[in-house]
Amino acid sequence: MPTDGPEGTPPMTDSDDTIARLDRACAAIRSRHAQAPVLGIVAGSGLGAIGELVEGGVAIPYGDIPGMPVPTVVGHSGELRCGRIAGLPVAVLSGRIHRYEGHPLESVVFGVRLLARLGASAALLTNAAGGIRPWLGPGCLCRIVDHLNMTGENPLCGPNDDRLGPRFPDMSQVYDVELGARMDRAAAAASVTLHHGVYAMMSGPSYETPAEVRMLGTLGAAVVGMSTVPEAIALRHMGVRVAAVSVVSNAAAGVKDALLDHSEVKEVANEAGPRLLSIIEALADSLNRTPLS
Ligand code: HPA
Repeated sequence: MPTDGPEGTPPMTDSDDTIARLDRACAAIRSRHAQAPVLGIVAGSGLGAIGELVEGGVAIPYGDIPGMPVPTVVGHSGELRCGRIAGLPVAVLSGRIHRYEGHPLESVVFGVRLLARLGASAALLTNAAGGIRPWLGPGCLCRIVDHLNMTGENPLCGPNDDRLGPRFPDMSQVYDVELGARMDRAAAAASVTLHHGVYAMMSGPSYETPAEVRMLGTLGAAVVGMSTVPEAIALRHMGVRVAAVSVVSNAAAGVKDALLDHSEVKEVANEAGPRLLSIIEALADSLNRTPLS
């Protein structure tokens, strides 16, 4: 059954494959902003201010992008901003879709696949996370150097579309070493402390138990959250170079005595946001002056 697309776009049909859906979404975006992004950015919970760094472009509500799922979580506004940061062409997704909202992983990764299809060769994923290591308290920034997918799910399950990427993509270097080193230098240039660590993804939406957090720490995780991993996998599948940063919003369950409360995410993001923004500006400036090799 065809369903109506947003105004001015053709209806979607059940027989559409991922590429056809992405291309329809790309066409709607390009009709409003022709410049292809070099860097795609996903703004995590409470980090919508990243979108405000974007100059001279357009803000497109997700509802105006055919095929784009709309987030339901408070703190995720749901718009794509295309323009420039420090002169670098970027596209910023403010508002992400989580698996725990009930969306299939195909929908969870639609936005980042769109960034890649629009032309982004690099992506920066940001999120709010719980700190497992005792030195990663609220407000700390942690660059993700690897991940543990604890969800038992993978966005690439199902038939593989070879036009997107290979059936069995390598994941031995999900988080790009050169892009990561650029971020470290950008953080140093902005006088911001940027820790490094492994991110564990749990499905949520309930927070972890203290026993689960101890398990994750034993497995090598420094931070824990409910996003990012499917996006990183889908982007690597498409050959995009990925960097990711967690803003620690709370000590993970059992690390401190306090109980967990989602309202912390926004408060801490407001405090830590400006530090993350200064790293992003310095990174964009660096990529604009010298593209990745
Ligand atoms: N656990 C999982 N996800 C999170 C947390 C946490 O402690 N904090 C913010 N997102």
